[in-house]
Amino acid sequence: MKSAYQPLFEPFTFRSGVQTENRIMVAPMTHYSSNDDGTISEQEIPFIGARSDGPGIVITACANVHVNGKAFPGQPGIYDDAHIPGLKRLAETIHAKGAKAVIQIHHGGLQCPPDLVPNGDVLSASDLPEKGSRGLSDAEVKEIIEGFGSATTRAIKAGFDGVEIHGANGYLIQQFFSPHTNKRTDAWGGESASDRLAFPLAIVDAVKSAVATEGAENFLVGYRFSPEEPETPGLTMEDTFVLVDALAQKELDYLHVSLMEAHSKARRGADETRSRLSLIKERVGKQVPIVGVGSVHTPAQAVAVLEDEDMDFVAIGRELLIEPNWVNMVKNGEEANIQTVIKVSQKETYTLPEPLWNLIMNARGWVPFEE
Ligand SMILES: Cc1cc2nc3c(=O)[nH]c(=O)nc-3n(C[C@H](O)[C@H](O)[C@H](O)COP(=O)(O)O)c2cc1C
Repeated sequence: MKSAYQPLFEPFTFRSGVQTENRIMVAPMTHYSSNDDGTISEQEIPFIGARSDGPGIVITACANVHVNGKAFPGQPGIYDDAHIPGLKRLAETIHAKGAKAVIQIHHGGLQCPPDLVPNGDVLSASDLPEKGSRGLSDAEVKEIIEGFGSATTRAIKAGFDGVEIHGANGYLIQQFFSPHTNKRTDAWGGESASDRLAFPLAIVDAVKSAVATEGAENFLVGYRFSPEEPETPGLTMEDTFVLVDALAQKELDYLHVSLMEAHSKARRGADETRSRLSLIKERVGKQVPIVGVGSVHTPAQAVAVLEDEDMDFVAIGRELLIEPNWVNMVKNGEEANIQTVIKVSQKETYTLPEPLWNLIMNARGWVPFEE
């Protein structure tokens, strides 16, 4: 391996005691391929297995914690004990290749298509007629918070090494934090960013309490968030600072900043000449490790996320769809052979579930491909 890439292969021990061999995580990627009842399908196992040899941590696709939170066809579920055997197989597949297994836990909120949720009842923080959502009652809010707790218990029973709370990408947790979608005036909303943090923080507490109740040692709890929204009103970097200040008090194992471009600059609410990641790192300091992600294709780019942005970890998503063995290729000094485009003629070599393959073929440019 080239010495310049050594920073990617430094081991790390998290607050919870979980150890990882290196600084590379597989970013969570929805694959639209679980069975209709949310159980793990045959297609998912080779897909995940092929991408678990090398990275220190594999974060699996977001799994819904409540039947009313399903956001994609073929989304894995973690809201019922019937999901545990398949999840166990998924965790074992990852462990067999030497990586730690983390499952992302999620509720889609207003992003759930009506045909995927009971009675077409699309839920969010508030009644938003233009988006087709109904505001959750206080009892329903509490039920979903408990859902995150029970999902954590199931992840532990299935043998996962951790959960990542999906507070990013405009799904329910973010909908509660955002002034754009949370218009509530009760205990789950309010004018200030800290008022609107009640739901996200209650979820963190429910997850941590499930870990404590299970007596799970060496179990990671991470939190993923999106730093800004384009809408006005919408989340700004200033709001993100309020969020990370609060999360830093929660003794989490890591924060994961969801971005499509790791070096993207702040839009508003902070110095717009600086990258979001460097601003977040400056705010958080050494209180909790941070994961950067977004358009990392080469090992030099991965090192730049660690060094230029001062991140503790780098996550890689689409690149691993194209080159499942990316990490070992870097380790073995074979980086010159890393592919950055899917070759359609070699479809069988990618172990991509059919629905994900079809999506890639239909969304030009998103994951590059050629004949
Ligand atoms: C097919 C696909 C599915 C994704 N599913 C999820 C998901 O379930 N949860 C999530 O937080 N992000 C999801 N993302 C976002 C990725 O985790 C990642 O942040 C993004 O793709 C940018 O990283 P990359 O450039 O390395 O792909 C998904 C991305 C892709 C391409």
